[in-house]
Amino acid sequence: MADATTDLLDPGERLDAGALRALQLDRLRASLRRAYENVPFYRESFDKAGVRPEDCRSLADLARFPFTTKADLRENYPYGMFAVPRERVRRLHASSGTTGRPTVVGYTDGDLSVWADMVARSLRAAGARPGDVVHVAYGYGLFTGGLGAHYGAERLGCTVIPASGGMTARQVQLIQDLRPTVIMVTPSYMLTLLDEFERQGVDPRGTSLRVGVFGAEPWTEEMRREIEDRFAIDAVDIYGLSEVIGPGVAQECVETKDGLHVWEDHFYPEVVDPVTGEVLPEGAEGELVFTSLTKEAMPVVRYRTRDLTRLLPGTARVFRRMEKVTGRSDDLVILRGVNLFPTQVEEIVLRTPGVAPHFQLRLTREGRLDALTVRAEARPDAGPKVREEAARAIAAGVKEGIGVSVGVEIVDPESLERSVGKIRRIVDLRPRGAL
Ligand code: DLL
Repeated sequence: MADATTDLLDPGERLDAGALRALQLDRLRASLRRAYENVPFYRESFDKAGVRPEDCRSLADLARFPFTTKADLRENYPYGMFAVPRERVRRLHASSGTTGRPTVVGYTDGDLSVWADMVARSLRAAGARPGDVVHVAYGYGLFTGGLGAHYGAERLGCTVIPASGGMTARQVQLIQDLRPTVIMVTPSYMLTLLDEFERQGVDPRGTSLRVGVFGAEPWTEEMRREIEDRFAIDAVDIYGLSEVIGPGVAQECVETKDGLHVWEDHFYPEVVDPVTGEVLPEGAEGELVFTSLTKEAMPVVRYRTRDLTRLLPGTARVFRRMEKVTGRSDDLVILRGVNLFPTQVEEIVLRTPGVAPHFQLRLTREGRLDALTVRAEARPDAGPKVREEAARAIAAGVKEGIGVSVGVEIVDPESLERSVGKIRRIVDLRPRGAL
């Protein structure tokens, strides 16, 4: 039915399910061919697995193709995964990489255009419209957040404030003076901005902001409620990764806020068992895997994201949804045999009275056992009794909800490190090289 919203959809979003699957298969076959013919890595890995691009006759056949991992990208550093001559690569980005070499990714003119279209589509799904003023506080530079958001907002027809990350006091000033209606930033940096509004005595609920488009790190429904209440805005989730393109791989629609629609006319998702690699049915939780359908400079085939989620049927769009990401397999803490993600602790901390939405997980070794301490910050008005109760409530919440005993320290307001981009939740103080 045509209404104000459907009128705004782009042609990809207007496809029906049958046309979408047909388009995906066409694009998938072309993409596998491009990878096989132009990237020695893919030629070798397909040959080794005994598959040819033409063996992909249905979308389900993709499961016969080998996975690609971050290690593969590292081994082919810097340009080995490119499928076009370097002269056709118009832009490079790189992910920092906590260990060893960074991963370099490249874009042709065509890739940059698709990327801008996908971020524009994401912004529109988030509730932004041409004419909005968009404050981009994702970092500009090798990180894909800033420039990715920037060109997408321009593509939609918005006025962009390229604030980048950091200089928090100035960000608050810019928001007051330039009156943006949309902000794009990591959820943890949004909390840093919140503190700064309060420090300057400015009511965060009174700003011109209407929508926040938050991503680049996991965040929970509890965090959504906190940010929406404190700023009086709609908070929606944007997902992406540099290896696939950057922000704008999937986006939550503001009208449903029920997980992120994957822009699967360009990025084909699968969820697999992280251990066996077997493709899991819709609704089952596992590791998200992407195959690019249209990328020219650096196609990826079955790239293992290490992000854990599940695929669900579409609601506000024809595309399938992915549930909010619980965490990366890298962030999983295995404590005395119990699996724990920082997001599970976030849910508990954020519903505990007397504590601010700032917390950190400290891993230490006590004798031969790992120990975890949740350090959460007291709200300024929380007295000793409230703090004690909060510590008890968090410990009990973790014990009951996750099934493991942890220590809890309620620390003074403003004593935990603040985020300027992606936050680091886990501080690992265990001796290196120990078991
Ligand atoms: O973080 C791209 C991005 C920028 C996405 C701005 C959204 C907004 P990378 O630096 O390559 O790219 O990191 C990608 O970040 O594999 C996830 O683990 C995590 N991540 C990104 N978005 C979300 C999200 C960008 N909405 C890695 N929820 C991914 C949870 C996210 N995790």
